[in-house]
Amino acid sequence: TSVTVSPARLDFTAVPKSLADVVAVPAGYSLTVLYRLGDPIASGVGAYANDGSDTNFARRAGDHHDGMSYFGLAATGSTPDANGNTRGLLVLNHENITQAYLHPNGATSIGGAIGAGGVRPESEALKEMECHGVSVIEISRSATAWSYVPASALNRRITPLTPMSFSGPVRGNALLRTRYSTDGTAGRGTINNCANGTMPWHTYLTNEENWAGYFRRQFGDVAARGGSTAKQNVSLARYGIRETANATTFNGNYGWASVVPADAANTLYARWNVTTTAATDATGDFRNEAFQYGWVVEIDPFDPASTPRKRTALGRMNHEGCEIGRAIAGVKPAFYMGDDAQNEYIYKFVSATPWSAADATATNRLAIGDKYLDAGTLYVAKLNADGSGQWLPLVFGQGPLTSANTTYPFADQADVLINARLAGDVLGATKMDRPEWTAVNPATGEMYCTLTNNSSRTAANVDASNPRAYTDPKTTGGQTTGNANGHVIRLRETGDTSEATAFTWDIYAFGAGSDLDATNINLSGLDATNDFSSPDGLWFGLPSNPTGNVTPVMWIETDDGAYTDVTNCMLLAAIPGRVGDGGTRAVTSTLGGTSNTVTTRIGKAPATTLRRFLVGPKECEITGIHSTPDGRSLFVNIQHPGENGGPTNITSSWPANQAGAVATPSRPRSSTIVITKNDGGIIGL
Ligand code: FEO
Ligand code: CA
Ligand code: CA
Ligand code: CA
Repeated sequence: TSVTVSPARLDFTAVPKSLADVVAVPAGYSLTVLYRLGDPIASGVGAYANDGSDTNFARRAGDHHDGMSYFGLAATGSTPDANGNTRGLLVLNHENITQAYLHPNGATSIGGAIGAGGVRPESEALKEMECHGVSVIEISRSATAWSYVPASALNRRITPLTPMSFSGPVRGNALLRTRYSTDGTAGRGTINNCANGTMPWHTYLTNEENWAGYFRRQFGDVAARGGSTAKQNVSLARYGIRETANATTFNGNYGWASVVPADAANTLYARWNVTTTAATDATGDFRNEAFQYGWVVEIDPFDPASTPRKRTALGRMNHEGCEIGRAIAGVKPAFYMGDDAQNEYIYKFVSATPWSAADATATNRLAIGDKYLDAGTLYVAKLNADGSGQWLPLVFGQGPLTSANTTYPFADQADVLINARLAGDVLGATKMDRPEWTAVNPATGEMYCTLTNNSSRTAANVDASNPRAYTDPKTTGGQTTGNANGHVIRLRETGDTSEATAFTWDIYAFGAGSDLDATNINLSGLDATNDFSSPDGLWFGLPSNPTGNVTPVMWIETDDGAYTDVTNCMLLAAIPGRVGDGGTRAVTSTLGGTSNTVTTRIGKAPATTLRRFLVGPKECEITGIHSTPDGRSLFVNIQHPGENGGPTNITSSWPANQAGAVATPSRPRSSTIVITKNDGGIIGL
């Protein structure tokens, strides 16, 4: 497909901001609810009762639908078809759970609160674990509508219990040795899978984000934190493993470590307790379980029997997503990643191997993954005030990444990758306002990254690329200070090549209510048709069509933030320009009695090239987006509607109420929807 950047025109009427408990799309569009929490994906699994009594989530849709890719299938069988528009595999992450709705009367815990001393019933904990992970489902389009195939042999659930293998430089490292894998080559499961990546060789990347919160670490159990070395303590702390020092045990977010299971060996629940109990035996306890997580994981969705591979060359962090840039024959491809926590970094991995177009149709897909994802260079981004930037290599032995480093003495390349955050610290990478999704414009190769918000950004530490700190006048619904509304940054590689080690950057758009100060907050001049807060999901659609003359559309999804008192979360469509199409701008931050002015670099005001396309139901996040290759069916995930309620306080009845109000409240369900245009056209254009 040849690509042009014109005609640059969105062709739909903006959807108004809304607090209604329903998904709204523009006039002329329709939506179908395709795949809901609990929907059965194997024969013999009953319909979802949705009253907390359901079990067997290893054969049902999980919760909190997140990042998602559509892979076309040939008319029959399990062969990929890059032009398949009516039959495909939909692969999606189940990031987390709304715990209260999964049980008849909410979650229970005996003898203390969940996560603080109580004991969880095994059946509840198993259900909660299995509601995490990934779904692979076969979907097809009939003359009238899309549906999933409940008994397809291609359907699969991947959960925190699914066997995985490690590949890349960290495979076999001492920190991966556990009771489950005494040689450090295998892993068990994946968790808190946030955004995704769609590889041109037809595999799916799922990314482990907020895994640290699932673990208990009670150093008060043993003197001086048992067998952890001082170095390991630095690492565990840098990655947010919470410690408790006394009997008020923190048992992890959901208390899974507290379960006293029927199986006395207890390898499923005790592994969430990484407290060390002995000085030397790393394979007899669970001290290294936390090092099993924080990776990019590759899945071959076309082979349900395949073992997913954790790609350690891409580093360990709160991986939000991992998206490949343009794959150009003879050029080493780049993979762009955000580490989503406050003041963390943007990374890219450049393969050691140049792209070969023949690999797109290879049948040994995970071996192709080995070729591009196991060897290469991981870089972290430094953004300068003058609009330039550098990719700093995370290579052991280069610069400060040596055993002589006093902040953190690195032992080898595996140590650098396991502790990518510490490597970024000593290299002086730029601390960003929570890097979420990345996306690459297929027409230009420019990389966009959402910086969702940052309540710890102060007026004193604003910089050119994170230039705002203020108090949002909105008073409810999430964050109100610091960079309360987030922004979308973009960068252009020097020479427009994925192999570059330098770039230029600017800020595509700043989130803000349209009523906020146009001088220092609503810098992009957003109006009622496109004002937003907390950008998160990000994806470029590149519809193919017979003329080969199509405009890439960038889709922006939002998550909570400082605007939920005015509107539910939303999806916007954009036709962005180029890095450098705007200019510089002085921005004054005023917060906590401090004022500070920095000069930022801001793209041309989006105006009519950015427009709200969808608004979701109550208490949801809009996340996960992909389309068929022809751009005529758009898949979107509605995550955690009604997340603040529970069985006796149902705060959203979506999706049961999508077709019309329900007589009695119905427990909400995270769901995938598919949107089509009533005239059959390309979505958004
Ligand atoms: Fe899972 Fe950073 O969102
Ligand atoms: Ca996210
Ligand atoms: Ca988010
Ligand atoms: Ca969420």
